[in-house]
Amino acid sequence: MKMAAVVAVLPLVVSTLAVLLCAPAVAAGAAPLSVDFHAVSCPQLESIVRSSVQAALQREIALAAGLLRIFFHDCFPQGCDASVYLNGTNSELQQGPNLSLQPRALKLVDDIRAKVHAACGPIVSCADISALATRDVVVVSGGPSFAVSLGQLDSLTPASAALVGQLPSPFTASVQTLLASFKTRGLGEAGDLVALSGGHTIGRSQCDFIRPAEDTYSRKMAANCTKNPKRLENLDAITPDAFDNGYYIALTFNQGVFTSDMALIRDRTTAPIVKQFANDKAAFFAQFAKSMVKLSKVPRPSGNVGEIRRISCFRTNASPLLAVDSSDEGLAASA
Ligand code: HEM
Ligand SMILES: *[C@@H]1O[C@H](CO)[C@@H](O)[C@H](O)[C@H]1NC(C)=O
Ligand SMILES: *[C@@H]1O[C@H](CO)[C@@H](O)[C@H](O)[C@H]1NC(C)=O
Ligand SMILES: *[C@@H]1O[C@H](CO)[C@@H](O)[C@H](O)[C@H]1NC(C)=O
Repeated sequence: MKMAAVVAVLPLVVSTLAVLLCAPAVAAGAAPLSVDFHAVSCPQLESIVRSSVQAALQREIALAAGLLRIFFHDCFPQGCDASVYLNGTNSELQQGPNLSLQPRALKLVDDIRAKVHAACGPIVSCADISALATRDVVVVSGGPSFAVSLGQLDSLTPASAALVGQLPSPFTASVQTLLASFKTRGLGEAGDLVALSGGHTIGRSQCDFIRPAEDTYSRKMAANCTKNPKRLENLDAITPDAFDNGYYIALTFNQGVFTSDMALIRDRTTAPIVKQFANDKAAFFAQFAKSMVKLSKVPRPSGNVGEIRRISCFRTNASPLLAVDSSDEGLAASA
């Protein structure tokens, strides 16, 4: 907008001004996000991510859920800035609601970063790679594809405990509370809450988070957990590793794992959407794709400020050197 006005008023000095105006803007990371952000500078990006994700899921399908959850935990507190990957002191991985983000899924993104940096140089952020890898695990697991806006810079610090603490709790029984929570991140439609909770169509939970024993299914969960407190409970009782609408069908049978899952089928506003998604997988997929695009654009309070992490997604470029993996091709490429 500003640029357009400048161009109209001062055509002769436009190139000089463009340099003056753009240089600080780019340094501050203000370049607009776009789907084809890396199309020219790293044309191999999407195929590297896709093939790495496919190979990883072939070895371990559970990584799909790991990545999807990591993306939610990255984006919700303060936008999709890879802040959740930082694992030094005060990092989000050490904070309360970390709920054991899968270490191997975190590592997969850093492995892909190394491959991408080896191919293109250190020009693609961990945030962008995380977003693309998340899109791909959904597709490879059977779910819908969606457009991912790229150009997000990696944060220089972890999110504050206060912001991470705003992640919703599985013990929430009130849909109004969940809706209000999602609304603070621009995910304010009932469809956003119901569709994104459908991320629970894949993956598992520790026993600590299951809902109280109050009906047949929850009593079975509780009994299983008493027998084996370390067991993992499938979040979708019907098709635990397929990205489909099994989660919603299970909810209509009262087979939700968390209080927050069951809230969706118990509430008058959200129950019709749950039933719609249980009956119509395509309707779920269309809304999930829309809501994931919104999640990928949760506003960053300080704007798109940061860096491309060159050495590891687990630390900022300036942070003290920990053990550097000598097999890190990304480092080699950037050195
Ligand atoms: C109402 C909001 C939500 C609540 C309260 C919630 C809560 C939880 C909890 C407690 C777990 C188990 C963690 C553990 O055992 O360590 C979990 C797992 C998971 N969540 Fe959510 N979640 C919510 C929304 C989302 C969203 C929006 C997504 C993604 C779109 C998502 C994707 C997942 C996945 C895939 C897993 C399984 C992770 C794995 O198997 O490693 N969740 N969630
Ligand atoms: C951070 O993650 C890297 C890679 O997995 C690991 O080598 C390092 O020990 C971790 N650092 C901390 C403080 O957990
Ligand atoms: C998650 O946070 C808790 C509380 O700070 C901590 O005790 C636990 O070790 C953390 N878990 C992981 C996997 O980092
Ligand atoms: C409880 O455990 C049994 C045996 O592993 C399993 O077949 C069943 O699906 C589990 N039920 C629940 C609700 O966890």
